[in-house]
Amino acid sequence: MQLMTNKQGLNGTIRVPGDKSISHRSIMFGALAKGTTTVTNFLMGEDCLSTIGAFRALGITIDVSPDKIVVHGKGWDGLQKPTGILDVGNSGTTIRLMLGILAGRSFDTMIEGDASIAKRPMGRVMEPLREMGATFEAKEDNFAPVKVIGTNLRPVEYTLPVASAQVKSAIIFAALQAKGETTIIEKEKTRDHTEQMIRQFGGEVTVDDLVIRVSGNQQFQGQAVVVPGDISSAAFFIVAGLIVPNSKIRLENVGINPTRTGIIDVVKAMGGKIIVEKTSAAGDEPAGTITVETSELKGIEIGGDIIPRLIDELPVIALLASQATGKTTIKDAEELKVKETNRIDAVVTELSKMGVAIVGTEDGMIIEGQQTLHGATVKSYGDHRMGMTLQIAALLADSDVILENADAINVSYPNFFEDVASLY
Ligand code: S3P
Repeated sequence: MQLMTNKQGLNGTIRVPGDKSISHRSIMFGALAKGTTTVTNFLMGEDCLSTIGAFRALGITIDVSPDKIVVHGKGWDGLQKPTGILDVGNSGTTIRLMLGILAGRSFDTMIEGDASIAKRPMGRVMEPLREMGATFEAKEDNFAPVKVIGTNLRPVEYTLPVASAQVKSAIIFAALQAKGETTIIEKEKTRDHTEQMIRQFGGEVTVDDLVIRVSGNQQFQGQAVVVPGDISSAAFFIVAGLIVPNSKIRLENVGINPTRTGIIDVVKAMGGKIIVEKTSAAGDEPAGTITVETSELKGIEIGGDIIPRLIDELPVIALLASQATGKTTIKDAEELKVKETNRIDAVVTELSKMGVAIVGTEDGMIIEGQQTLHGATVKSYGDHRMGMTLQIAALLADSDVILENADAINVSYPNFFEDVASLY
């Protein structure tokens, strides 16, 4: 499709859709709890619909209506052996967290996904779960389809070799079913929505900086979950508001859990005009209003323990850097290679086509600033965040930008193009 351009200014207010990570977990905890869970502002994107589909196949009734989702949980033992193969589509969060849930059930499950999922490493989840007694069969012992042979699990003490909330969460779900206390030691702090939701559903977890302790045999009760907007979706408008001349964009009800706000710190360090006002009541995941304005930006170095706090925003941060003065270096981000696509290669290739001086490194990218963006035919690689990054880049292009496979944005933001257009 032909992407939109705009150098005159983007102005207005957006409510980005619900947080993807929290939406997935609301269905999972709702299904594992006893009683009814209602979820409002649930993200109706393809990834989260895959999680709903997986739990329906496991025997859970889930009512989907435009204003809310209702999950009729039956407790851990309410999950039943599915008749077919569970299909997670493009969703890494669904497959990895489900491995932890299904490993401790009393039946076997086959789980698979699309071509991208079939290339993403599952060994990082299977290894700690095997230490807990789990049994799997997988292609090359690392890739989907995966057969999960359900069994009784034992607790473990495990130090995560990668900073991954998906791996951490899979171990937590397994630990909740094991006999005794599991200890997980994180390499760097990653998003903690699973830990938050254990507490919300009446369970217990102890977090002491990087050390997480969780006991087994925990039962949950259905809850009302209000999902805040996704800061990873807001990121596209944060960058658009900063780089398109004469812009001011207000983003309402954005989740600002501190494990997710690395992009705000980066924008401030680059000299961007950004204001964050906290709005949500205590007890919920924190939310707020973010306002950005066109800004003069300077290049910076991004690396270390901020990386997990902005990992999904790095493609659009690379674009932001191309409009700053001076060079920006992104390092310690080798995890980008195992996302929906290899995001180092994809960002470097596609932004280069548009005229940006950018090089890939082993663990990140180096981006020159003050770049003029040109028209080109670009690709999403079936990766939602690549598609949206390229639309924001196209806003400043001096001629037409054509995006192949634009549908990929439906994974996390079905109304993305309409929301961009609403700011004209
Ligand atoms: C997610 C964790 C992150 C993130 C992904 C969602 C989650 O992945 O990139 O989009 O919901 O737990 P990793 O755990 O692989 O870092």
